[in-house]
Amino acid sequence: ENTDTTGTESRPDPLTPVLTRRWQLDRSWSIDTYERTDGYTALRTALAAHPDQLINLVKDSGLRGRGGAGFPTGMKWSFIPQGPTGAGAKPKYLVINADEGEPGTCKDIPTMMADPHSLIEGCVITSYAIRANFCAIYVRGEALHCIRRLRRAVEEAYAKGYLGRDILGSGFDLDIVVHAGAGAYICGEETALLDSLEGRRGQPRLKPPFPATSGLYASPTVVNNVETIASVPDIVAGGSAWFRTMGTERSPGPKIYSLSGHVERPGQYEAPLGTTLRELLELAGGMKDGIPLKFWTPGGSSTPLFTAEHLDVPLDFEGAAAAGSMLGTTAVQIFNETVSVPWAVMKWTEFYKHESCGKCTPCREGTYWLVQILERMVHGEGTPEDVDTMLDICDNILGRSFCALGDGATSPITSAIKYFRQEFLDLIAAQPAVARPEQLADLT
Ligand code: NAI
Ligand code: SF4
Repeated sequence: ENTDTTGTESRPDPLTPVLTRRWQLDRSWSIDTYERTDGYTALRTALAAHPDQLINLVKDSGLRGRGGAGFPTGMKWSFIPQGPTGAGAKPKYLVINADEGEPGTCKDIPTMMADPHSLIEGCVITSYAIRANFCAIYVRGEALHCIRRLRRAVEEAYAKGYLGRDILGSGFDLDIVVHAGAGAYICGEETALLDSLEGRRGQPRLKPPFPATSGLYASPTVVNNVETIASVPDIVAGGSAWFRTMGTERSPGPKIYSLSGHVERPGQYEAPLGTTLRELLELAGGMKDGIPLKFWTPGGSSTPLFTAEHLDVPLDFEGAAAAGSMLGTTAVQIFNETVSVPWAVMKWTEFYKHESCGKCTPCREGTYWLVQILERMVHGEGTPEDVDTMLDICDNILGRSFCALGDGATSPITSAIKYFRQEFLDLIAAQPAVARPEQLADLT
């Protein structure tokens, strides 16, 4: 019980785990463990309610998408047209984006490995709310271990009557398919994911129309992230007021922060939205070997870098944005003073160039040029104009690309130059002034 009638809220201990509470249990992934720890009781509650009540509950909870963009989940569900469901009406679909690929992001695969039934229960509740009878979980192809575990968990759920025909005697039917992607970062973009699921080459579609009106097979489709849907059973069980006791007013709820890099104990740390890096570092044992922090990403490499100045920024959607970045996927990659900023930026840019799907010119050509400049700079042949040339190329990518990949590719570069311009200039000054002629030719 988290609220009382006197109006003084007794907030839960911020470190009481919600999403990760089963992770340390023996055979945490099995349906027996899940049922023993209240698993699938929220489903019974949900099936006894009207679907619209569930949509309103999730709206009231303030749950926002955990895939990176933070779109309000209940609002997205409410976009699904709720006309007649009989013959002639388009089917509705739920698609789970489990193609976790953003550099540094590693929260969804651990969630599916440790507690796959929280996702499956969330899928059944969500499908019932949006009146879908088919759900696909699109998992990153490299995560074979995770695909096997999920498929086993889906079989267990069918065997117990939580999936299939007439679930728990409610008259509601749902099938779930676990689909393996083929390892392309762009297939994490929701419309490229849908194309890939339909059997085509994964490339982004023009939005609008958004998937909510025209998604899988041009039918109304909710696409949600794993952590978002795994949060739903707890919201049904605990209520929206309970959910709002964690996090902030506009970014409520718990979140899994993935800490990697130069930190004593890298790993997944669950904490309420709005937790700061200073607090997360305390949980993770501080900076590795005590070497000071130089720069970090709040939510993967597509979010502008932060520095040691930003240790007290609340890591929620508003806090990260107000400080000049984005919350993104809460993949907190931490770099100490030994790391060269131009080198790290080059590695990230090489990734974006490799993963650019090639559909639009600003991203396809721009990432190629940026890699050319960064590689020659890091390898001792930068020129004094390179910093401004990179900013100019980024300016021609940002807002002119077809999807978020192009925009994201500019974030590490523009933010690194904002905070560490002198380091780029010093690197260039320590080099021969003019690059090799054949490399300049590559840029023209
Ligand atoms: P977005 O802001 O375009 O859309 C977010 C969601 O809201 C989508 O599902 C979209 O369909 C829906 N939506 C937005 N406006 C809508 C409207 N008017 N009507 C109906 N639905 C609407 O963001 P996007 O491009 O889906 O995601 C970008 C984010 O993804 C970045 O912020 C980045 O942090 C994150 N990302 C995550 C990765 C991962 O591995 N989890 C990989 C790469 C990026
Ligand atoms: Fe493809 Fe990049 Fe254009 Fe997105 S921005 S459509 S990934 S080329």
